[in-house]
Order: sequence, then C-alpha cells, then structure tokens
Amino acid sequence: MTDLKPARILAIETSCDETAAAVLENGRLLLASTVASQMEVHARYGGVFPEVASRQHVLAIVPVIEQTLARAHMVLADLDAIAATRGPGLAGALVVGLNMAKGLALGTGLPLVGVNHLEGHIYSAWVHSAEQIPPPEPQFPLMALLVSGGHTELNLMEDHLTYKRLGATRDDAAGEAFDKVARLLGLPYPGGPSVQQAAEEGDPLAFKFPRAWLEGSCDFSFSGLKTAVLNETKKYEDRELPTADMAAAFQAAVVEVLFEKTMKAARECKVKQIIVGGGVSANRPLREAFQGQAEFPVTIPHISLCTDNAAMIAAAGYYRFALGHTDGLEIDVLPTWPLS
Ligand code: KG4
Ligand code: ZN
Repeated sequence: MTDLKPARILAIETSCDETAAAVLENGRLLLASTVASQMEVHARYGGVFPEVASRQHVLAIVPVIEQTLARAHMVLADLDAIAATRGPGLAGALVVGLNMAKGLALGTGLPLVGVNHLEGHIYSAWVHSAEQIPPPEPQFPLMALLVSGGHTELNLMEDHLTYKRLGATRDDAAGEAFDKVARLLGLPYPGGPSVQQAAEEGDPLAFKFPRAWLEGSCDFSFSGLKTAVLNETKKYEDRELPTADMAAAFQAAVVEVLFEKTMKAARECKVKQIIVGGGVSANRPLREAFQGQAEFPVTIPHISLCTDNAAMIAAAGYYRFALGHTDGLEIDVLPTWPLS
C-alpha cells in the first residue's frame, strides 16, 4: 500500500516477560528495537511469575524507551504516534506499558494506538531492517499461521486489520506444548529453544507420536501428543531418558501438523501467500518446512522478530493509525482480547 500517510511510530510491548520498545517508519522500516528480557529472573520459577513480571517492567520501561529513541537518533517530537500492546497478556504487565504510552501521548499530544498482541505477531511479517533489502510486501488474501506460547490459530486476512479465524487450538497452544514437553524431558525454560536444540541430536523416527489431524476442521490439538510423550517417559523410570530422540519425534509431530494444516487451508482459500508468526515461528524445522515448498510465497519474520518485541506492535500500530483507528486516553488493558 503506497497511498497511506507516512508516519514514525514509537511502540511499547509489555504483555508478558519482555520489556520492549521500537521505532518504525511507515509500517515497515525498523529504525530501532530494544528488548529487555526477564527470562533469567523467571527461569528459577520454571515459567513466568506475573507479579515479578510487572515489577521488572516498571524498572525497565524508561531506560528501554530512552535507549530506543537514542538508537533511532530521535526525540519524541520526531514521532507521529505512540502505540502500545493492549492485550491479550498479563493484566499487571500490560498496564505498565499502556500507561507509559498514555503518559507519553498526554505529554506530547501525539495520538495513542492500542494494539492487539496477536495482530502484532502477524504484522511482524511487514517489518524489515535498514540493512535488509525490503522483502516484498505481503499480499492479500493471505493465510496467517499464528503460533505463540498462548495461541495457535489460522487466520484468513482479506485486507489490513481484518481477520477471519478459521481454526484454533482446542487445548494447548503449540508453544505451550513445547514448554510442557521440555519440562517432561528435564530441559530448561523456555522450552521451545531447548527442545529444538535437544532434537538436533535426535532421530525424529525413533518414536511414532500421534498427530491430531481433526479432519474437516482447521482446529488444532496438542494435548494428546503431550500425553503420549508423558506416557513414553514413564517407561524410562529406571533407565536414562532418550531425551534427544523424544524431543526430535515430538517436534516432528508438531511441525508436520502445523505445516500440513496451514497448506490445506491456504489451498482451500486460494490465498496469494502464507505468513507464519509468533514465538514458535523461530523453530528451525518449521521454518524449513514452509521455506522448502514452492506452492505459496511465504513470509516468516527474522528470528529476532518471532518472539515478543515492539517492532511488530509498531507495524500493526502504523496500519491502525494510518487507517484511522486511534484510541482515546481512557482505554484500558484487555487481558483477554481475541483477534477475531
Ligand atoms: O510469541 P511468544 O514470544 O510469546 C507469546 O506471545 O506467547 O512465544 C513464546 C513461545 C514459547 O512457548 C516458546 O517456547 C516458543 O514460543 N518458542 C519456540 C522457539 N522459540 C520460542 N518454540 C519452538 N521452537 C523455537 N525455536
Ligand atoms: Zn507473543
């Protein structure tokens, strides 16, 4: 879309355990992005501790914004709007980022844009850095596979900001399954990267774990797979767990289902292209599955943009702003805010 007004957006993301800020130009060009991870703080609990997350956001938010503006060689007066994640996510964490954005909007008089975090993951496909040759702009209609820690969805997008949810997980999200299986296999938090790493040494055919195809539906289910891994681990109570083989066989089952079901939906809807977004889109075998097919052009964000960041919030924020969807200072966080 070349006819939208140009704009520089400062975005803030604090929905879970990363305090992030970014400045993006015209919805695509990344000028600066900072992500302060709390991973080490939460690792000792084996997952995100909500109250601790909120306090860490309070400590990190101002330095993260200052650093981001400095890296972009900008001051607040150079911006056109302030965007922030409004939901879904942890209420106490979201409040920190949204209220910071409200304060900045109030102080500068700039418009405020509340962004859906899931929408942000999809819009990460639009972002590129100055060093990159700009990848082609995603073309509508497109099929968006959204795979994060809390969500697994197939959304048909016929235009900007319109999402038709064709299917979603009936139980665990794909990222959640990675995290739970990591725990079963004694692998460290966060589970996705550690399962992927362990799987590199393993044989994906060593175990035949189930695939929930749910024929005739675009929905997903991963709890049966998780239980199958659990049952298999019980056979090794007095022997060493074949961690690498189990990780590889589990990962292969998740990737196969995500890939095949997305391809089927893309064919049925006759889309022009596929987008994959969310933390699990960092998974190497999943990326390779999509990049290895020639039926549809596919956009998967750079690894640094797959897990939570503010560049994706700035991208979605830009299209909301440019298409006239700004918000008043009275908006509140929406901890459960479905995309469609
Ligand atoms: O999008 P995200 O950063 O946060 C949410 O919005 O939930 O996604 C986090 C999820 C976690 O479940 C994490 O284990 C998973 O993404 N993840 C991965 C990989 N990197 C992160 N899953 C599989 N393979 C990876 N390389
Ligand atoms: Zn996320």
